[in-house]
Parts: sequence; structure tokens; C-alpha cells
Amino acid sequence: MGSNTKAVLNYGDGKSVEFPVLGGTIGPEVLDIRSLYGKSGMFTYDPGFMSTASCQSKITYIDGDQGVLLYRGYPIEQLAANCDFLDTCYLLLKGELPTPAQKKEFVQAINQHTMVHEQMQFFMRGFRRDAHPMAVLTGLVGALSAFYHDALDINSLRDREISALRLIAKMPTLVAMSYKYSLGQPYFYPKNDLSYTANFMRMMFANPCEEYQLNDVLVRALDRIFILHADHEQNASTSTVRLCGSSGTNPFAAIAAGVACLWGPAHGGANEACLNMLQRLQIQGGVEKLGEFIAKVKDPASGARLMGFGHRVYKNYDPRAKLMRETCYEVLGELGLQDDPLFKLAMALEKVALEDDYFVSRKLYPNVDYYSGIVQKALGIPVAMFTGIFSLARTAGWIAQWQEMITDPEYKIGRPRQLYNGPARRDVPAMKPKAMPAAKEALATAH
Ligand code: CMC
Repeated sequence: MGSNTKAVLNYGDGKSVEFPVLGGTIGPEVLDIRSLYGKSGMFTYDPGFMSTASCQSKITYIDGDQGVLLYRGYPIEQLAANCDFLDTCYLLLKGELPTPAQKKEFVQAINQHTMVHEQMQFFMRGFRRDAHPMAVLTGLVGALSAFYHDALDINSLRDREISALRLIAKMPTLVAMSYKYSLGQPYFYPKNDLSYTANFMRMMFANPCEEYQLNDVLVRALDRIFILHADHEQNASTSTVRLCGSSGTNPFAAIAAGVACLWGPAHGGANEACLNMLQRLQIQGGVEKLGEFIAKVKDPASGARLMGFGHRVYKNYDPRAKLMRETCYEVLGELGLQDDPLFKLAMALEKVALEDDYFVSRKLYPNVDYYSGIVQKALGIPVAMFTGIFSLARTAGWIAQWQEMITDPEYKIGRPRQLYNGPARRDVPAMKPKAMPAAKEALATAH
């Protein structure tokens, strides 16, 4: 990192401050403004971090204009075609794809941690059965720090590695438990001779009455969903994990904060919101009502948005959305659902939006959530579990980003400042002495 360029800020009466300009491997250069307040007494103002790089990172790179996504330099398309989710986890955590021997060792290490403490199922019983699975999952992930407090020293590499393995290994078990609990069905223990994703599908869909048949095409499709969601640089939930972790709290607490953030409909909750939107549109008349629906999402007064469209960083087709659409074809084909009315409606809606000047001029394209709901629904995953699936996958990225932060020599507690526009200093008015009730007054004078 480094560049010889400097930037100069001129302000006030002939004052100026000089800032170094730093360059990464690829992507825009950044203005290093760390000395701004010290030199000028001013802060920067950037709500939503539209122009702020909050950290240095070697993990994920996005070129939003070109629609490029790289994990540790590898294009997402190549990872989705040639790797599985555990290769991707290894890559995110360690920086390189595993050799066959490293992969074997990593799978064994993950398998050692797939079970959760038996008492977690009693903890789970405290939740209402009709609670949203994300509410349950936020609680369960946070509670891991109560069950696994033997390796919480964030300054110990060994402890950090154990926590990372525990999180990646236990998330499928916890997500499946939260689903089974909502159904009133027994939990299934992990089966370590299955692949990571096959094991998850079995824990989700098996029941004690019959043997669960795994379908390789569907397992591969879900594994690909995990790969596509594994990391996405400094998005809202990842920044939440970093900010929360910057106080020195334990990784389970920091990742529970990430799960809570991901739940929101502008972030990971968008796949659930998108499927609900398509289902509502279908009920209201489907393709016939597209014009009316598009007019509504274009009207700022309606407060409605075309869910699964638009992205803070991508101003081009989200590369994950392309892969997700392919996966959608594969899954629907395998299940004989090529004529799925929701998929047809989604494609028709996408076409109309991509030809509409409102979306074209604002560079609003489908994002990863647009098709992922349709794939997940076809896989038998209920809508309320969609964000839980996203959390499971994103845990790999969160923990890799948290590890990177903890070992960064420039790491500091995150502490943004503000532009205060409340009242200036003022004095509390003098309080009048309270009038005494008549009976008390009489008593007081009697003494
Ligand atoms: N439908 C209709 N209009 C939209 C949409 C949409 N989905 N997204 C943005 N716009 C409009 C917005 O009204 C604004 O118009 P104007 O300039 O006239 O005020 C303009 O486009 C810019 O929008 P913004 O809200 O300033 O953009 P942002 O970068 O702050 O928001 C976003 C990004 C993803 C929150 C937003 O596009 C959105 O709400 N999309 C729908 C929710 C969604 O699909 N979220 C998933 C994101 S991808 C998965 C993830 O990372 O979790």
C-alpha cells in the first residue's frame, strides 16, 4: 500500500492540510484523513459511509461498475464452478485454497465441532415456537459464548482458530435446530460422514419415520448458495461484526450482532421480502399487474421498493445474481418445476424493470436476493428460514473479517464522531419548591 500522490485540502482563510493518498492492489485509491481532526479540528461527514473505507482488507474485492466479485483474488464464478463451501471457508480464513491434505485436515477439524452442547436444546425451549427463526438464531449464536467460554481469549491464535471452527461447524446445527423447533419436530444430530451441506440438508429435512434421500443436484445447489453468500467485503453486517468486535468482545457476541444486522430487509432479509413480494404480486394478478406494480415501486410516496433489485456497490448486474439464476434453472429442472409460476413472474418482472428508464438511469439491477428465494423455496426451505441460510454462509466471511481485524496492527476500537445539531449548552431552570400537602404542613408546624 502506498502512493506518492498527496491531496491538499484548502479551507478557511488560506489554511491547508495535506493528506497522503493510499493505493490498494486494485480499486480506487483512498485519502488517508486520519490526521484531519488533529490538524484542522474538523471531522468528515459521511452518513451511510458512502465515501469511507473503514479498514484495509485482503479478503474480498468488489468492482461494482463491472460486476466483479473476488474472494482472495479468485472470481466468484470460478469458485462456484470448481470449489465447495468448505474450500471457500478455508480460502476466506487462510488466504489460499487448500491442498487435498489441508482440505482433509480442515474437514476433520470442522467435523469435531458440529455438535452443540446438549443443554442448548433446553435453552432453545425458552423461545416461543412461533418466534421468527432469526430471533432464535440471534439468541443461539450469542449464547455460544455462554456454552463455549473455554477458548475466548481474542489475543490467542489458538482460541481464535477454535472459535472460528466452532462457528462454521455449529451454524448448520443451530439453523436446523431453530427450524425443527418451529415445526415441533425432533432435532437431528449431525452426521459427519456426509458433506457439510448434505449434513445440513439432512438435519433440516429428515424425520425419524423415514430415511432421508439426498439429491446431489440439490445439495450442490445449496452449497453454491453458501459460496455465493460467504463474504461481501464491508457490508452492513460485516461492518457490524467488526465494530462490535473492535471493543474486544468475544467472536460469538460479535457474530450474533452480525446476525441481528443481517436480518433487516435492506440487507439479508431482502430474499424473504423478495419472495413475499412475488407471492403477493402473483395473488394480485401476476403478469397482468406488472405495470401497476412497477408504477408503485417507482413512486417514492408509496414507500415500496422492488425487492432484490439495487445495491450500494453494484451498479451493474450482481455477478451472484447471474449464478443464482443459473442455479434456479438447474434446481427447477431437477425437480420438474420448469414452469414454476413464481420463477416465470420473476423473469417477466426483471425484464420489465431492466427496460424501464427509472431502473436503467439509477443503475438498479437484480442482486443476489432476487432469485435466491425461488431456489430456496424449491429446495423446500421455508421463507422465514431464508435469512438463517444467509447467516450460516456469511459466518465464514464474518469470522475471517473479524480475525483480520484482530491481527491488524492498525486495529482500534471503532468510534465514529458526529455533526451535533441539538441544543447548545443551556441551564436547567431553577425548580420552584414543591407545595406541601395541607395535612403535612399542619404536622410540620405542630412540631
Ligand atoms: N426499488 C425501487 N427504487 C430503488 C430501489 C429498489 N429496489 N433501490 C434503490 N432505488 C432508488 C431509490 O429510491 C433512489 O431513488 P432517487 O434517487 O430517486 O431517490 C435511488 O434508487 C438510489 O437508492 P438508495 O436507497 O439511495 O441506494 P442505496 O445504495 O442507499 O441502497 C439498497 C441500496 C440495496 C438498500 C436499495 O437498492 C434497496 O433498498 N434495494 C431493495 C432491497 C434489497 O434488495 N436489498 C438486498 C441488497 S443485496 C444483498 C445484501 O447485500 O444483503
